[in-house]
Amino acid sequence: MKTERELHALLASLTLSEKAGQMVQQGEEHLGGTGGEITGPLRHLRLEPGTTLEIGSVLGSTGAAHIRELQARHLDRSRHGIPLLFMADVIHGYRTILPVPLAQGCSFDPDLVREGARMAAAEAAAGGVQVNFSPMCDLVRDPRWGRVMETTGEDPWLNGLFAAAMTEGYQGGPGGSLRDPETLAACVKHFAAYGAAEGGRDYNTTDLSERTLRESYLPAYRRALDAGCAMVMTSFNVVDGLPATGNARLLRTILREEWGFDGVVISDWNAIGELVPHGVAETFREAARLAVLAGVDIDMMSPCYANHLAELVIAGEVPERLVDEAVLRILRLKNALGLFDDPFRQADPEREARVVFHPGHRALARKAAARSMVLLKNDGLLPFPPDGGIVAVVGPYAVERHILGGWSCLGEDADAASLPEALAERLGAHRVLAAAGCGIEGDDLDLAAVERVVSAADRVVLAVGEHPGMSGEAGSRAAIGLPGRQEALCRAVFALGKPCAVVLFNGRPLDLRSVADGAAALLEAWFPGTEGARAAADLLVGDASPRGRLTMGFPRSVGQVPIHYNHFNTGRPRTGGADDYFCSGYQDLPSDPLFPFGFGLSYTQFSYGDLRLDRPVLDPAGCLAVSVPVTNIGSRPGSELVQLYIRDLCGSVVRPVRELKGFQWVDLAPGETTEVTFAITEPMLRFHGADLRYASEPGRFLALVGSDSLHLQEKEFVLSQDRR
Ligand code: NOJ
Repeated sequence: MKTERELHALLASLTLSEKAGQMVQQGEEHLGGTGGEITGPLRHLRLEPGTTLEIGSVLGSTGAAHIRELQARHLDRSRHGIPLLFMADVIHGYRTILPVPLAQGCSFDPDLVREGARMAAAEAAAGGVQVNFSPMCDLVRDPRWGRVMETTGEDPWLNGLFAAAMTEGYQGGPGGSLRDPETLAACVKHFAAYGAAEGGRDYNTTDLSERTLRESYLPAYRRALDAGCAMVMTSFNVVDGLPATGNARLLRTILREEWGFDGVVISDWNAIGELVPHGVAETFREAARLAVLAGVDIDMMSPCYANHLAELVIAGEVPERLVDEAVLRILRLKNALGLFDDPFRQADPEREARVVFHPGHRALARKAAARSMVLLKNDGLLPFPPDGGIVAVVGPYAVERHILGGWSCLGEDADAASLPEALAERLGAHRVLAAAGCGIEGDDLDLAAVERVVSAADRVVLAVGEHPGMSGEAGSRAAIGLPGRQEALCRAVFALGKPCAVVLFNGRPLDLRSVADGAAALLEAWFPGTEGARAAADLLVGDASPRGRLTMGFPRSVGQVPIHYNHFNTGRPRTGGADDYFCSGYQDLPSDPLFPFGFGLSYTQFSYGDLRLDRPVLDPAGCLAVSVPVTNIGSRPGSELVQLYIRDLCGSVVRPVRELKGFQWVDLAPGETTEVTFAITEPMLRFHGADLRYASEPGRFLALVGSDSLHLQEKEFVLSQDRR
């Protein structure tokens, strides 16, 4: 471990081009001797494959033996002996793949998410990775955007909880240390507001008011940083007219000055180079100048810093002080990770073989998948009774096993069971039939085999969804129904009249109108990871109970998006009365989603008693208790997520119709009742008022408690003016 003084001395010993090199991230093909094809933006580096470039960090390499070899070769050659940093995208697992982050959000279980992140870090760190480009906590309101799959949903506060939990999981916290070789440094992304891409089209412009940015989009990144997140990645998009990667107001004023962040800022892939097509820089040289002045410490995969940073300093266009500050932050991170003592962080093939894909990790992946799935409808078909009946699995996911989801690192489809295989493990192969009928995409529909297996079965599982490549980066879709001929397949199967459960494998909320009515049950399995099919089978046969709740509502139609539960009331809200014509709404559809934020069923039912407040007035220094009795009125044990929302009825600026402020899980046996109590305090009522100050305003509020964002009881209370 170096002291701060030693780090300064090391910095002082570097030449300008060595300093600039620390601020360059490239793939391993630039470490010399590995060959590799130079494509895309890399061509602009004017380098040949195998040319050695002065770089400080490497993107995307994995594997302990491989990374040891790269690091050793680099250190052999290096004059200053500063180890490389190896960074990768370990978004939902390294080799053992967890459900995609949107699914993990639906677990409403930050402890489980933290545990999953810890597992992913242990595997990836054993495989030589040191920095993880996660958590991604971009707020999302538009399911056309494929990257909704990578985030935890539409709620600013909840995204913050998960971003903090993932950060702690990766970094060994709370209270952990990056010197622990089972950790990864976390990098929160994409700063900022990447999820607000207009039209849901990836990389597209965003246009947000300062208030919306601060109120809704920024809080989750801030929570990750408060949890100790080591790095921040900039986003591709424009924020208030300036691309985030050249945006000094965002990266210096807000991030560093207001929030006090002193860690490393990295651009997204070629985002500095993209300042040119964005139209704020004429040349890569100018782009490099804008980015370094804005506060980007590391240039990921563009030629800008590699080719121009040193020359900009020599020309006096960039103060060397800024370069020194950036390099010092990078050296501090390398030091915090223990790289100056052990540049391999104990990654070795033997430890890697022991840790990676450990059976305990697979058990955790199965639990996480079961807890992430959301039961959207159940007319009593699920769970399947143990009556020996035959189950026909029909649809593309009767044969496909691409259920890991995008960004699945070293995960392999072959590690996952298909749904029929998983059901056969539970029920016996003789009780499970399978026929695809159609592909995920394409025009072919072949019903002969489908009709055969359905007629031989007692019940049907329609296993349908998207291909993993349809969500994730660049995975935008203008229409969000089931792709290909799958809707036609569903209709044909419903017409056969057998009780039918639809199981969905997908990375975004879909327009499910064409399947929701015909299905007797609807299980949203998302892309559930390595053990996802087994987890779905656990739920279908009733060995586990569904308990996931949506963290992103499902619109009725793409025409409703952007859609989010915490919208404003408007001056003309519809009330359901005769006067609704000139009120805000659609002529052809309701305004609310098909399945709202917070919604999800279990295998039992719960009833809520009357909501009570312990006092009508909240003193700003005090606390108000809101309670409700909850009873399991069904015949099976189950878990209910009791949700607290608050509405500020009148403020200096308009306030959302409801905002999630708390939740509690209760596990109840049949007939059991419990009292659930939430404490409401003044900080929960703060927002960015007319002057953008973050404070509460005295006045009337509603406390709303219930089972999802639309099924709520409410009680009014007052926040008093004075502290008593
Ligand atoms: C581009 C993606 O936007 C970002 O999320 C990812 O971390 C980087 N590429 C590195 O792979």
